Amino acid sequence: ALVSMRQLLDHAAENGYGLPAFNVNNLEQVQAIMEAAAETNSPVIMQGSAGARKYAGEAYLRHLIEAAVEANPDIPVVMHQDHGASPAICIQAMRLGFSSVMMDGSLKEDAKTPASFDYNIDVTRRVVEIAHAIGVSVEGELGCLGSLETGMGEKEDGHGAEGVLSHDQLLTDANEAADFVKATGVDALAIAIGTSHGAYKFTRPPTGAVLRIDRIKEINARIPNTHLVMHGSSSVPQDLLAAINQYGGAMGETYGVPVEEIVEGIKHGVRKINIDTDLRMASTAAIRRFMAENPKEFDPRKYLGETKKAMKAICKARYEAFGCAGQA
Ligand code: G3H
Ligand code: 13P
Ligand code: NA
Ligand code: ZN
Repeated sequence: ALVSMRQLLDHAAENGYGLPAFNVNNLEQVQAIMEAAAETNSPVIMQGSAGARKYAGEAYLRHLIEAAVEANPDIPVVMHQDHGASPAICIQAMRLGFSSVMMDGSLKEDAKTPASFDYNIDVTRRVVEIAHAIGVSVEGELGCLGSLETGMGEKEDGHGAEGVLSHDQLLTDANEAADFVKATGVDALAIAIGTSHGAYKFTRPPTGAVLRIDRIKEINARIPNTHLVMHGSSSVPQDLLAAINQYGGAMGETYGVPVEEIVEGIKHGVRKINIDTDLRMASTAAIRRFMAENPKEFDPRKYLGETKKAMKAICKARYEAFGCAGQA
């Protein structure tokens, strides 16, 4: 059944586990997530970005997720709008039937420029008011994702910033988080702790100096009843990176967020973990390998079927590691 995010996150908090939230753009991703959830008995959060809506088209994206619900009536599924850049985008998503929306007011409507605290409170509070009236959950974001290692080298969009913010300004401040949650009434709060979107998060395996799990603990101590969300939480598996490059790819050396660090975050209030890049890499590695090994094949079901298997393996591993398995 389609459920609100609040329902799942409350259950996760009561039972001490975390939920991976996978970005979806196409049929094979949706099927991979659902097959993994069915096999591990896990509740599901599927999220569509503005880019996903543009790629698939609103109707296709919505019906893909609704098909997943119909095909798996026993699995609770959240249909979540990822990174809504304005109240208008969030309201459109609600009208489409999304059971949860993210109002990302940490950035202005261009989804690039860091926004003021007051702007963030204003737009987020407006979305909460509308969403809660119809039983839809809201995720807000405070702080800026970006790499601490490179000193805000990358912003939310993965492109270089001009160093306008210092390291500490990027991170979510615990006291501000408390004020923000109180002023907006959000159901979940995305926090900045040194991760960034995309594959290029860290140039070496991250230490505590750049991946600030200590900040999660600080925030959780201040607002223990708020569900925390980690964005940019792909682990960038080294075996997938190697497979991509072995079969003709050219990805650079890079490291993601280790699964065991996420598990540590889950012990301190993290309930939703956003993952997109790992499924992209799994998909690409599978296609490259299949194409290289089967040069005579031309049936897309063959190589897309391989992407599904590869994505499903990642999904199952995350459901299990985050304690989500068996909770549906
Ligand atoms: O928030 C970032 C997600 O990875 C979605 O990326 O905007 O390219 O769909 P996208
Ligand atoms: P990754 O790029 O690390 O997969 O993060 C995805 C994300 O945060 C989507 O909102
Ligand atoms: Na989100
Ligand atoms: Zn994100």
